[in-house]
Amino acid sequence: MRVPAKINLSLGVGPVGDDGFHPLATVYQAVDLQDEVKATLRTDGRFTVSVHVEADGTGEVADIPTDDDNLVVRAARLLQTRLGDPNAGADFVIRKVIPVAGGMAGGSADAAGALVACNAIWGGGLSREALEGLAAQVGSDVPFLLHGGIAVGSGRGEVISPVLARGSYHWVVAIADVGLSTPEVYAEFDRLGGGTEEPEVPAPLLAALRAGDPVGLGAALSNDLTEAALSLRPGLRATLDIGTEAGALGALISGSGPTVLFLAADEQHGMDIAVSLAAARVCADVVQARGPVPGARLL
Ligand code: C5P
Repeated sequence: MRVPAKINLSLGVGPVGDDGFHPLATVYQAVDLQDEVKATLRTDGRFTVSVHVEADGTGEVADIPTDDDNLVVRAARLLQTRLGDPNAGADFVIRKVIPVAGGMAGGSADAAGALVACNAIWGGGLSREALEGLAAQVGSDVPFLLHGGIAVGSGRGEVISPVLARGSYHWVVAIADVGLSTPEVYAEFDRLGGGTEEPEVPAPLLAALRAGDPVGLGAALSNDLTEAALSLRPGLRATLDIGTEAGALGALISGSGPTVLFLAADEQHGMDIAVSLAAARVCADVVQARGPVPGARLL
């Protein structure tokens, strides 16, 4: 399976609900920073997970749980229960490219991959719609990572509706060395005053996507979690400023951060921005990504 990362072109966040979740109005785009999730059939109803950063299986990733807390196992268990087959199990091997705890939904992407992979190796025969229902129980971003492309997310982010969009977009992705916890960023958002009204998707952003206009899109990027992420990680301000000074069409924190995204006009422009960021030593790594790309799919 190949599974994409997501970015939120806009992330509108409303006041926290009784369930502890925040109502969202977001526009997702799937980008080609992609993890690989391999599932091998077991017939004893058990699951194992190993996570690597290199294609040759070296480079163990330290801060990802490989037990039942792993989102991949949670997703697989939900499907196992839904199919009513207690003997269905799998060994998962994940090759990580998506930054861990980076605000790009890497764990959710792997879970989306696990749902599609297990449905295939177990002969589950569930439709995409049925898998999206299970996906929403795993995490708010998981249905979008099955879907891919560009879509509006509402509810907690799990209700997906398609968006009319044109064009392909170049991103420069500044990856931090230490991740941020999504619940902590939402808690900081509440502490700083929280959302006051029903979130909305900005009309100029949808217009720019319809027109395939990267300049319009760059100007319309927005993220209501920006202040909260900056409050927890003040150093991200410098990263944003350097990419902006280097001529990015737009800059924003990715989801709950701490990854920072810059929209570039093309690959060469992206390279220029990446060089400025690398020279300023404000982040651990800089990569380029393109979107939109499809959701979780079999290789
Ligand atoms: O849905 P997911 O498990 O990815 O959410 C992780 C955490 O992020 C939640 O436990 C919650 O603290 C926060 N969250 C939120 N509102 C959302 C989505 C996530 O407060 N719409």
